[in-house]
Amino acid sequence: MRVFVFMCLLHAVVAQISNPWEGPGRTPVVDDPNAGNACSVDQGTCSCCLILQQLNRLKTYFNQTLYEMQQESSLMTQTLNNIEASRAAFSASLFTDEQFRCFGPLDPNSNIIYKNVYLNLGAHYNVSTGVFTAPYSGVYTFTVSVYSDAGAPGNLLSACASLQVNNQHVAAAKDQNTSDQEDSATIAVVLQLRARDQVVVKLPKTCFLCDDSFYNTFSGFLLYVTE
Ligand SMILES: *[C@@H]1O[C@H](CO)[C@@H](O)[C@H](O)[C@H]1NC(C)=O
Ligand SMILES: *[C@@H]1O[C@H](CO)[C@@H](O)[C@H](O)[C@H]1NC(C)=O
Ligand SMILES: *[C@@H]1O[C@H](CO)[C@@H](O)[C@H](O)[C@H]1NC(C)=O
Repeated sequence: MRVFVFMCLLHAVVAQISNPWEGPGRTPVVDDPNAGNACSVDQGTCSCCLILQQLNRLKTYFNQTLYEMQQESSLMTQTLNNIEASRAAFSASLFTDEQFRCFGPLDPNSNIIYKNVYLNLGAHYNVSTGVFTAPYSGVYTFTVSVYSDAGAPGNLLSACASLQVNNQHVAAAKDQNTSDQEDSATIAVVLQLRARDQVVVKLPKTCFLCDDSFYNTFSGFLLYVTE
């Protein structure tokens, strides 16, 4: 008897909430036609049949929701994998130890080859040539720090560099002041590149860089991919 009263109450409650599970954009859940027939044939089991009918609709609703959540989850996993696979970042300094030495002057203009690689995610920076090749079209950030020590005040000092994309000059760093002993300059740019664009720092032919403490660095990373 208790069970019967409970079922009737449940039926009343379910009937009052008219289709709460039909959210926007969802295909309406189709009733089981047999449930209605059973109800008209046997009035005694009417409440049970209606409850079963509502339970079936709930079951279909939850199954559909689960299916959609699984689809969304696999889409998100795929996106995350793509982001992880497209990671590109590098950072390197000119010399590999703290021994005082100079790079340049060289004629003609030459690539500055940053030999001491701190990081090379995706291996898009070539340590033999000093060239970073953009793996994807996207927005990239690059920084270059240029430093030189003349050894003594009044000595010739010419610390300069040119950041180039596909051999086109994009940005420069320059400090030439023979009154002091050390000169430094920096470049920081954000660039839109196409896949396979080549980025390198060149040493203009009269310039040279003398360093004894990892002052000269070249770094870059992919901010985000564009189509
Ligand atoms: C659940 O949903 C999936 C996808 O919509 C469907 O293939 C499957 O038959 C459904 N299962 C049940 C028990 O309704
Ligand atoms: C670096 O560039 C040189 C010259 O283009 C090439 O021979 C070499 O395979 C490259 N190294 C890597 C690791 O890609
Ligand atoms: C060159 O360096 C000296 C010594 O640090 C400084 O007094 C002077 O202002 C500098 N000149 C320029 C053009 O920066």
